[in-house]
Amino acid sequence: MARQATRYVCSNCGAVSLKYQGRCFECQSWGTLEEIRQEDGPRQGKAVQGVRAAAVQNLHAAAPEEYHRMKTGIGELDRVLGGGLMQASAILVGGEPGIGKSTLMLQLAARLAPAKVLYISGEESPNQIRERATRLRLHAENLWLAPEVHLEAVLETIEKEQPALVIVDSIQTVYSGQYQSSPGTVTQIRECAAMLIHAAKRQNFMLALIGHITKEGSLAGPKTLEHMVDTVLQFEGEGYQRYRIVRSVKNRFGPTNEIGVFRMEECGLEEVANPSEFFISGRRTDVPGNSVLAAIEGSRALLVEVQALVAKTNYSMPQRISTGFDLKRMSIILAVLEKRLGIETWGQDVFVKIAGGLKLVEPASDLAIAAAIASGLLNRPQDASSVCCGEIGLSGELRAISDSERRIREAAHLGFQRIVLPEANTRELKPAIKKLPLTIEGCRTLQEALDAMGI
Ligand code: TYD
Ligand code: MG
Repeated sequence: MARQATRYVCSNCGAVSLKYQGRCFECQSWGTLEEIRQEDGPRQGKAVQGVRAAAVQNLHAAAPEEYHRMKTGIGELDRVLGGGLMQASAILVGGEPGIGKSTLMLQLAARLAPAKVLYISGEESPNQIRERATRLRLHAENLWLAPEVHLEAVLETIEKEQPALVIVDSIQTVYSGQYQSSPGTVTQIRECAAMLIHAAKRQNFMLALIGHITKEGSLAGPKTLEHMVDTVLQFEGEGYQRYRIVRSVKNRFGPTNEIGVFRMEECGLEEVANPSEFFISGRRTDVPGNSVLAAIEGSRALLVEVQALVAKTNYSMPQRISTGFDLKRMSIILAVLEKRLGIETWGQDVFVKIAGGLKLVEPASDLAIAAAIASGLLNRPQDASSVCCGEIGLSGELRAISDSERRIREAAHLGFQRIVLPEANTRELKPAIKKLPLTIEGCRTLQEALDAMGI
């Protein structure tokens, strides 16, 4: 008799374990391991009948299938989607409650007219959605509402109505009768999403799934959900602020990490035409602890204000708090300031904040963080007409960064008179860049850069 081998498979990330554990060793989620018994021994199953070899196509000979994009008409949304919604694609829209997911989808639905849009809502009643549409002053004759949470009924409705776009608000509320677990569980979310995505590909409609975010900031539900869809858009920014940033975390049909900037107004989300102006709008140039970063987000250069507050600590362990910037990277910058520049950081609480709720990930942000902290520590405001960018090495050197020319152009465009960046980035500048009305200051070390900024 064949021995039965027991395996435990994580329903969240798919990792396989030989023994049961309360917590998945791979994705660290609790209680997601499910027992799977496999026949161990020679396979006795019959050969599967009726299998045919797949038709292969030569890369060059095959005629490219004509995919077409549908422009949403909302410029910032088209930008993050990579030019518009792709036919038969599935997007996942994630964000904290109240950040504007339903609002954006409703605005999108109205823009797609006359294409038919089906809005499946398990969160709000048709009346609530109607009320919101009135507030947004939308006359979406093409929009059809269905307060439905049963997956089978949803699929049936789609089959009958033949919409061009289906919005599911939210995927956590949908459940299938095929599974015993309750709505919102990992199995339900994964299976329901899989069936909806399959239907979208087969019946050729666009699918937008709205997903909730956990306290830690990641999309609730299985990690695999992000792998299943073509595009993941995530709302950033704080719910209590008026500004909203939508970032493409994944995009099979366009660039990733592209951002769209919106402002939540009385009548919905409005595009912010010049995001740089917004990110540096509330700046106080006379206060120490501020700097302006020339950042690259996706395909766009942006100027962003970085703030640091440095105060003598009352604790034995000084506090290090950062919003929008990696805390470990901030600790390294503090260590470089202390060791290489002799600026004492021990004994000081350091708080760093990026304006507008933006999250900085590129190494080129190092210099602006260091400049803001150094300016706060030394109590000297930096030169108000300077922007900076650059990666800091452990020896206190400035390392080359990407896309320096676009950063320089953006700084000049917003009227800054000086840009401080790594010397390596100033070697092969195009003549047109050199002619811009600002001083390009190439620095080899962090010390040189701080000097150039008057800190
Ligand atoms: P909503 O789209 O319901 O958020 P989500 O679906 O992500 O939970 O947005 C709700 C918030 O937006 C709510 O706090 C009210 C605010 N809002 C406006 O300020 N103006 C508007 O025109 C609308 C429709 C909402
Ligand atoms: Mg909502």
